[in-house]
Amino acid sequence: MRVLSGIQPTGRFHWGNYFGAIAQYISMQGDPNNAFYFVADLHALTTVRDAQRLRKNVLDAALDLLGLGLDPAKATLFVQSEIPQVPQLTWLLMTVCPMGLLERCHAYKEKKARGLTADVGLFGYPVLMAADILIYDSDVVPVGEDQMQHIEVARDLAGSFNHLFGETFRLPKGSILDGSAKVPGLDGEKMSKSYGNTVECFEDLKAQRKKIMRIATDSRPMDQPKDPQTDNLFHLYANFANAEDLAEMDALYRRGGFGYGEVKKKLADAAEAFFAPARERRADYEAHLDTVRDILREGAKRASDKAEEVLQRAQLACGIR
Ligand code: TYM
Repeated sequence: MRVLSGIQPTGRFHWGNYFGAIAQYISMQGDPNNAFYFVADLHALTTVRDAQRLRKNVLDAALDLLGLGLDPAKATLFVQSEIPQVPQLTWLLMTVCPMGLLERCHAYKEKKARGLTADVGLFGYPVLMAADILIYDSDVVPVGEDQMQHIEVARDLAGSFNHLFGETFRLPKGSILDGSAKVPGLDGEKMSKSYGNTVECFEDLKAQRKKIMRIATDSRPMDQPKDPQTDNLFHLYANFANAEDLAEMDALYRRGGFGYGEVKKKLADAAEAFFAPARERRADYEAHLDTVRDILREGAKRASDKAEEVLQRAQLACGIR
């Protein structure tokens, strides 16, 4: 079974990325031939328009992933643009992709709804993502909830291609984690860079505390019991706490008689402790950038060998070889 996922280097990774997706990457790694993870710089081109910044973001993304626990002995880590077979396969898939399928996709729909003009890159984004997935014969794609629609597109395109040209692609399945498929941000909406409501995994600790203190809560009096399940702050805390601490917090909410400031402090302490080993590991890699570059080079080699095999299969099937 091959696991594959990608993440855009549009900025530093946040708690939503971590608990929704990266934590799954890490728990599913094991054999580097069967766990492929990449930094999606071609996708990031639809929003990042500064060459220096994109290059820096790609390196930061690799450092973040390694720091957070991606282990090069157990997983293949690479940069999307180093696999030229991916854009080649994208074209083949475009020729079997109905316009309507992409018109229904949310990134494009949202931009249009805001009155902005989308470029062809943003419109065709899900086809590139389908190529990313199909080109490695991926079985499982760990993601947050917002990416499930795109995995459906990949399945649809694989199905259409197979129908037209014979069995070529394996049909992938998305994997989301109950409870953290949609991590809330500081304002209670989905945590997302574009909403400005994120806390980064490697946030400066002082800034992190300040942000946590800003988390939106309701204005019910302290002594009133509260339902933890409807509280954004509780949901964030749940990601970090162990079962015992969480049960204690749950009971505190139901009993009432506490201030949200107290919970925020607990969350800040828990988050700090949780990411402390990752910070250390990241700093270590940062001091050895040559090692990071070697990891990415080896990863790209392994990934492109597999990609070449599947691309050739697709080319033969549709008659261009
Ligand atoms: P991206 O870069 O926006 O996000 C990376 C991963 O983080 C998840 N995520 C969240 N999960 C839970 N709660 C949140 N608040 C939250 N915010 C982000 C995303 O669901 C995603 O899994 N198109 C993809 C990148 C991509 C890809 C691929 C993924 C390119 N090719 C192939 C899988 C397979 C994207 O923009 O993710």
